[in-house]
Amino acid sequence: MTNKQNSAPQRFLTGITTTGTPHLGNYVGSIRPSVAASTGVGAESFYFLADYHALIKCDEPARIQQSTLEIAASWLAAGLDPERVTFYRQSDIPEIPELTWLLTCVTAKGVLNRAHAYKASVDKNTAAGNDPDADVSAGLFMYPVLMGADILMFKAHHVPVGRDQIQHIEMARDMAQRFNHLYGEHFVLPQALIEESVALLPGLDGRKMSKSYDNTIPLFTPREQLKKLIAGIVTDSRAPGEPKEVDGSALFQIYQAFASDQETTDLRKAYADGIGWGEAKQLLFERIDREVAPMRARYQALLQDPAKIESILLAGAEKARKLALPFIRDLRHAVGLRPLASRQAPASPQRIAKTVLPVFKQYREADGRFHFKLLDAQGRLLLQSLGFDSPRDAAQAVKMLQTQGAAALAGLQSRLEPVADETSLALASALQQLTEPGPETGQ
Ligand code: TRP
Repeated sequence: MTNKQNSAPQRFLTGITTTGTPHLGNYVGSIRPSVAASTGVGAESFYFLADYHALIKCDEPARIQQSTLEIAASWLAAGLDPERVTFYRQSDIPEIPELTWLLTCVTAKGVLNRAHAYKASVDKNTAAGNDPDADVSAGLFMYPVLMGADILMFKAHHVPVGRDQIQHIEMARDMAQRFNHLYGEHFVLPQALIEESVALLPGLDGRKMSKSYDNTIPLFTPREQLKKLIAGIVTDSRAPGEPKEVDGSALFQIYQAFASDQETTDLRKAYADGIGWGEAKQLLFERIDREVAPMRARYQALLQDPAKIESILLAGAEKARKLALPFIRDLRHAVGLRPLASRQAPASPQRIAKTVLPVFKQYREADGRFHFKLLDAQGRLLLQSLGFDSPRDAAQAVKMLQTQGAAALAGLQSRLEPVADETSLALASALQQLTEPGPETGQ
């Protein structure tokens, strides 16, 4: 890392794909630690709803919208403070798809071929004897580039993600490096942040809690439903009174993710003392509900007021675009998407440049003194000097006008013929043209 990056506040950024309803695993693994981290001093946090990413795996518009609402409401209910962090919806930032294209052009296709999600689809197709790319959208293939744009746009240093996302962060680093190499140092190189201490929550069946295993407990399921779902967590068949193993007990692991150290110690002891599964499940239910109930109430209230969530997200987008807009402008310039009037390198022969620019002419009069005049592109006289004793003095005055422009006029007043009112505007604009940076200046 460069010194500049060290002294800047550390930026954390993470995206949540809007395809599902948040479950306890999302809460423990992502929402809770992120909300806690966002209150840290010296950190700048960016959280966004990755709804462009959602389109890659979901073609049900109503589900995308509903999931966006539920996820936004969940994060807010869990205590994310939109005043402290930048909380926005990806699709409200048009600079992100724009940056995606710039990055697409510096990303090797071969690298994308190796992305886990894409490769898994190809492997599955190949195993089934299908065309390798059967049912693979270009969106899935490009997924890592869109994610790279999310991260690089906001110069994030740290990207808290699950292990399955590490490769994507490495690809984002690659894109940043390649772009920086080609076009100058624009991007911060991001790092994946894997929270070792964050528990991987088991689901109802003991495997990792995941929508794809259909073993989740929705975070804000009503109290009665929560109780029912917890009753369905797998246990062994030991009867009350028999000592129980904490190792491999999904129930114990879930409890641990919510309990204090003391509470965990107490349950460990209760296991050894032969607590019945029914009683243990009741303890777990009460423990989770104690943490979730106040958030559930806020969540329900927020869901009743989608307009409020919408306005929070739009305010977040405004904050985010204050950074994205000037940055994409710089990036466009860097790659050569530039207004033509600001052209810097002369692509055309100098002959042409001379005919379109105003010119200074220096000459000697019959009386032996040295003069100069400024003519516009059409040869119209804009400025006429009086006589100088030496060509050096005349050249020096010209130089001052070329470098300082109209600002030099006052100081040279006694060496110049008065400027007529009707030419003063043309003179000012000619001098400005000459002082503008570019190789044409001063020729
Ligand atoms: N791909 C991430 C996931 O599925 C979501 C995501 C999209 C993301 N853009 C991101 C995460 C940028 C971190 C940074 O979990």
